Amino acid sequence: MQGLGEAVKKVLGGDTLVVVTDENVKPLYLDKCVKELEDSGFKVCSYVVAPGEESKSGETYLKLMNFLAEIPITRADGLVALGGGVVGDLTGFVAATYLRGIKVIQVPTTVLALVDSSIGGKTAINLPAGKNLAGAFHQPALIWRDLSMLESLPPEIFLEGMAEVIKYGVLADEELWELLSDVSNVKANLPEIMECCVSIKTQIVAEDEFDNGKRQLLNFGHTIGHAIERASNFAIGHGFAVAKGMAEVADISARQGWCSKECAAEIRSLLEEYGFDLSIDYKMEELYKIMLSDKKRKAGVIDLVVPERIGKCVLKRISTEELREIL
Ligand code: GLY
Repeated sequence: MQGLGEAVKKVLGGDTLVVVTDENVKPLYLDKCVKELEDSGFKVCSYVVAPGEESKSGETYLKLMNFLAEIPITRADGLVALGGGVVGDLTGFVAATYLRGIKVIQVPTTVLALVDSSIGGKTAINLPAGKNLAGAFHQPALIWRDLSMLESLPPEIFLEGMAEVIKYGVLADEELWELLSDVSNVKANLPEIMECCVSIKTQIVAEDEFDNGKRQLLNFGHTIGHAIERASNFAIGHGFAVAKGMAEVADISARQGWCSKECAAEIRSLLEEYGFDLSIDYKMEELYKIMLSDKKRKAGVIDLVVPERIGKCVLKRISTEELREIL
């Protein structure tokens, strides 16, 4: 984390920072992060939330807002999101709305956060009716990437993030797919792989920041994945659900003639090689009902991201009735 404080100084006018993290990351990096920022002259407070999706709640959001107001954090000050997707989304949404917007610095500690959720300014909390239903676009003032932090990740969390990495290979980059297909050398190739993913995501966001077109391709596997996550009451983590969603939508696409059988089989087989469990223990009817409550659904239609081949996905607009039949 060396250099973080000086980098923050370049983007922040104020002198106070609140580092938000979770109980899993706290023992690993919180002290180091606070010290690094204090050494650069910042006053630093920390706020620790429970790990897991339940922290993306209205309750945690308001508690954190009140914490900031009591310090008090001013418009010139900032927040540091030290953690994975949950911490990043929650902290980002608080930063987007506290005093109508203060700066947020994302310090991703998981693969998933590093390649996806920390980039592009999507911030949100969940509502009982669905995931990410209250949110805002709020670009981070800085994203601090330190791949050495990924070394402390439990294998399960590392694997979860690899689902999003594999997603990039399918939707945008055949060469990345080749790199990922060399499964035994993934750790050695990680810097190159991460750089590829960051570059794909950054380019897509630059072209469609507000998610009206191309950015929706990043939802490959997410329509079914989000439904699985919710059906499991978030017992199945985001990346694991997305892996199931990608395999399922690839199979659907092959059945519909939208991609070749070989393409769908290749996607399933690489996910399995990484160790993803691709079984789906929910009835498609149940998942369909959850999909209908997806915030991205327009009246009567759904935009499904489908693979055409490895390295290229497209949006297929289908009616909800068609979706039901397909499922
Ligand atoms: N994670 C999807 C997006 O940033 O658009």
